[in-house]
Amino acid sequence: MMSPQDIVWHLLKNKNKVAVADAVTAFAPVNIALIKYWGKRDDALNLPITNSLSVTLPNQGSVTTLRIHHHGADHYYLNQAPIKKNSEFAQRLQTFCDLFRFEAGVSFEIHTTNTIPTAAGLASSASGFAALVLAFDQLFAWQLEKTELSILARLGSGSACRSLWPGVVEWQRGEREDGLDSYALPLDNTMATFLSTHCLGLLILEQKRKKMSSRQAMRHSVATSPAYKNWPQQVAYDLAAMKKALAQHNFSMIGAIAERNALAMHATLQDSQPKTDYCTQQTYAYRQKIWRLRRSGWPVYFTQDAGPNLKLLFPKKIQPMIQQEFLGIEVIEW
Ligand code: PMV
Repeated sequence: MMSPQDIVWHLLKNKNKVAVADAVTAFAPVNIALIKYWGKRDDALNLPITNSLSVTLPNQGSVTTLRIHHHGADHYYLNQAPIKKNSEFAQRLQTFCDLFRFEAGVSFEIHTTNTIPTAAGLASSASGFAALVLAFDQLFAWQLEKTELSILARLGSGSACRSLWPGVVEWQRGEREDGLDSYALPLDNTMATFLSTHCLGLLILEQKRKKMSSRQAMRHSVATSPAYKNWPQQVAYDLAAMKKALAQHNFSMIGAIAERNALAMHATLQDSQPKTDYCTQQTYAYRQKIWRLRRSGWPVYFTQDAGPNLKLLFPKKIQPMIQQEFLGIEVIEW
């Protein structure tokens, strides 16, 4: 069995291991999954059970400055605030940085700023790990291929592998045990052009940190949920339908498939033992509201990740109505 370190050594076999600068800065965008990544076949390498598909937000994401020191310990900052030393996130970052600590005594200082407020529930680890990998690539002047960068980002956080590309992106699960064929690739550009006449609305229903990380929740679904048995088949079906809807520029199909895929993902959690649910009363109430609006002819759909907040999908032309119905919604253009 290969470890993340084996993969890094393999990809960087003939590459420079000495930093060419003291500090570098990189940007990576946020991506929103329309067909979710939910469940791993390899926990250490973040290898997914199924493919997934996302849309990249062009101007929103993480800006990461990476500084190398030849003494001391690592220091990590998120939106100017230090990340607590013993937090789960700091430990994850440290484990990731260890993969690129080629000399003894080297430490890294990382400053990440998210262009969308973290509380918006969108500044996931995806853009952060993708930006960090781009920063390491610059720091050591590797000039890796994007597919290789995508593999490295995946080792930090699965969904980060999709943040290396603009537009509509598919993460191919791959077949190999070492995961060297598990990376993201962009799909036809006209799909993204079509989506640029649409908006994403962030409906923040709770600002608090989530109770269970997506990592833990995925593990729980795969291990205990009878409904998870249907998930791979559901994804295969939804993915094929989504690609067709995108190629046909059929927004109501795109919205409907994204919504049912997100609901199927949440159903695997609700069916797990013990039952887990990211939804609050408000999540349920707003889902109902979206369905009500749709019944009266408004083309608004939602998707939902590992948290209670909803992400609304709708055409730009109905933005005024959306802002009136969902006070405080943060609207982002694709
Ligand atoms: O990359 P992770 O481990 O944060 O998992 C992300 C999982 C979802 O956001 C729920 C779905 C997805 O495909 O992004």
